[in-house]
This record gives sequence, structure tokens and C-alpha cells, in this order.
Amino acid sequence: MTYLVTGAAGFIGAALAKRLLDEGNRVVTIDNLSTGIKGNIPAGCEFIFGNTYDPDILKQLDAYKFDAIFHIAGQSGGVTCWDDPLYDMNSNITSTLLLLDYAKRSGCKTFVYASSMSVYGDENPCPVREGDALEPKTFYAVGKIASEYYMRIYSQQYGIKCTALRFNNVYGPGQNMENLRQGMVSIYMAYAIKDRHIPVLGAKNRYRDFVYIDDTVEACVLASRGKEPALYNVYTTATNRKTTCEQLIEIIRKNLPFDFTVTYEGNTLGDQFGIFCSYEKIYNALGWEPKVSLEQGIKIMADWALKAVKPGEQ
Ligand SMILES: NC(=O)c1ccc[n+]([C@@H]2O[C@H](COP(=O)([O-])OP(=O)(O)OC[C@H]3O[C@@H](n4cnc5c(N)ncnc54)[C@H](O)[C@@H]3O)[C@@H](O)[C@H]2O)c1
Repeated sequence: MTYLVTGAAGFIGAALAKRLLDEGNRVVTIDNLSTGIKGNIPAGCEFIFGNTYDPDILKQLDAYKFDAIFHIAGQSGGVTCWDDPLYDMNSNITSTLLLLDYAKRSGCKTFVYASSMSVYGDENPCPVREGDALEPKTFYAVGKIASEYYMRIYSQQYGIKCTALRFNNVYGPGQNMENLRQGMVSIYMAYAIKDRHIPVLGAKNRYRDFVYIDDTVEACVLASRGKEPALYNVYTTATNRKTTCEQLIEIIRKNLPFDFTVTYEGNTLGDQFGIFCSYEKIYNALGWEPKVSLEQGIKIMADWALKAVKPGEQ
């Protein structure tokens, strides 16, 4: 099989591309290396450098025929979306529209998209479910919702099977430990290792639902192979477990061979206070469930990060 995985220089895209390559498939990626690192792109993955919202870059895809498109690239942070809202919109909306249009032109019938739990905002009771209200608090979340609606229309009008996966916080080895503005686990772990101090932006009782990278990759693969009767599907990848910032930091502490201090100050624009989600829908439809507990996943990640990150590098 031949797959397009956009964003394979980034955390999730790289892990997904590697999984597909390891299975013996051909994998092509487009990445602008904005938050991704060229060295992350797995060996054997064909690399097109550029923006996923640039029609001239997408023209290069005419040389291929894809069995499925995994659109994973995107402006990947709620915090960073305020820096340049137009870039955020192009990366997270225009790119999806252009890639869907490419799928239609080229006859690709399967499209999987990296959406986000940020679409739910803060208004729903937990555990949040797919039918709950969409209450975006950031431009980033607006982009994810818009992309989902474009997918719905491409499914209805052009018969492309589109699946939006609303990821909860993904973590694990390979996360960018230099990017201190995206990824709660990687930010805290990077500060702990480099500075022996974590300056948390926000309250200790904020909470999230953390999903290990391999479980997230598995959801992408299952979504591309699902046999559901509906052409358009939305699922949330989640563990149905509430973990506060303070609890997360205590798990990190148990897995590092030194102690560190923590301060809780300030906040970030548009931050959700707390969310965890049900995974009942994706379990019933695709048989997906989280396999790696937060305790196991943080241990694996800490062992990796202790080798990958040098103290005092910041
Ligand atoms: N990591 C999470 O917890 C999480 C949660 C929910 C949703 N997501 C979504 O999953 C996707 C991947 O996230 P990640 O954690 O791997 O982030 P990441 O920043 O590590 O990866 C994103 C990749 O996309 C590339 N990219 C960004 N804009 C681009 C553009 N316009 N053209 C080409 N390439 C572009 C980056 O260079 C990077 O390699 C993103 O769409 C993100 O919004 C991630």
C-alpha cells in the first residue's frame, strides 16, 4: 500500500509513518519543518519539503496514487495559535480542504485526520463524548472543527471515507523536548531534566486525559482500515481517566532519578481547565482501547528523555 502521512517530521506523524513503513508499505510525507525536525522522518519515507496549504507543493503529489491519506501535519498548539492566526488557519483548515480536493481528484477514498479534544472546550460534563457540544476556545480548535466539517462534506458529496480522530493529550518518546510551548508531558519533563524546576503556567488542579503515542498510532491505523457503514466518522482517543497537572508531575517525579521544584503561576490564553473523555465510541466501532497506562508510558518516556535531553541545555 502507498500512504501519504503529512507531518512525518513531527511527533505523531513520525511514529505513524514508521509503523506503516515497518509493515512494508510505501510512505510519502509533506512537512514544512516548522515544529518538526528533519531527522525525525523515518528512513525510507519519501519527503516533500513545503507547506500543506501550498497548491504548488501539492502538485508534486500527482506523481503518486495513495491508498489512504493521513493528514497529521498542522499548527499543533493551542498556545501558539495566537502568534499568527492566519498561518494557523492555513495550516489547519486550507491544508485540509486542499488535501481533500486532491483525494477527490486522485481517487483516494480514505482520509484520516488529526483533530483534537480542544473542539469540546470546557462546557461539557466529563467524560466528554463525541455528540457533546463543540465549544472552541482557541483559533486552533476552530481550525479542527472546520476541517471536520470539510471532511463531512467530502464524504457526503464525493464518497470519500473520512475519519476525524479527536486526540486527547498524546505523549511518549519522540515528543519534541525543545518545544516548550506544546505538549504538557514533554514541557514538564523537559523543564524537570534541564532546569530541575517546572514553572507550570496554570493551576495544579487543571486536568487532562493522556494517551500514549503507540495507542494513538494504532487508532490512526484502525481508522484507515475501519469497515463502518457510515462514510464520515468522528472518534475521540481517550482513556476515560482524569489526571490533574499535580498528579502528572508526581508520576514524572517518581520516574526521574533526581528531585525538582514546581511553581504554579499565570495561565495561557484559551487554555481548557479540565477534560477527560469516553472512548466507548471508538471501542465499539473499531475495537480500539488504550493499552499503555499513564504510569507505564511515563516510565518509558522518562527513560528515553533522560538520554535524549541534556541537563542545563535550556
Ligand atoms: N500531540 C498532541 O497531544 C495532539 C493532540 C491533539 C491533536 N494533535 C494534532 O496532531 C497533529 C500532530 O501533532 P504533533 O504532536 O505530532 O505535533 P508536531 O508539531 O510534532 O507535528 C506537526 C508537524 O506538522 C508540520 N507542519 C506544521 N504545519 C505545517 C504546514 N503548514 N505544512 C507542512 N507541515 C506542517 C510540523 O513541522 C511538524 O513536523 C497536529 O495536527 C496536532 O494538532 C496533537
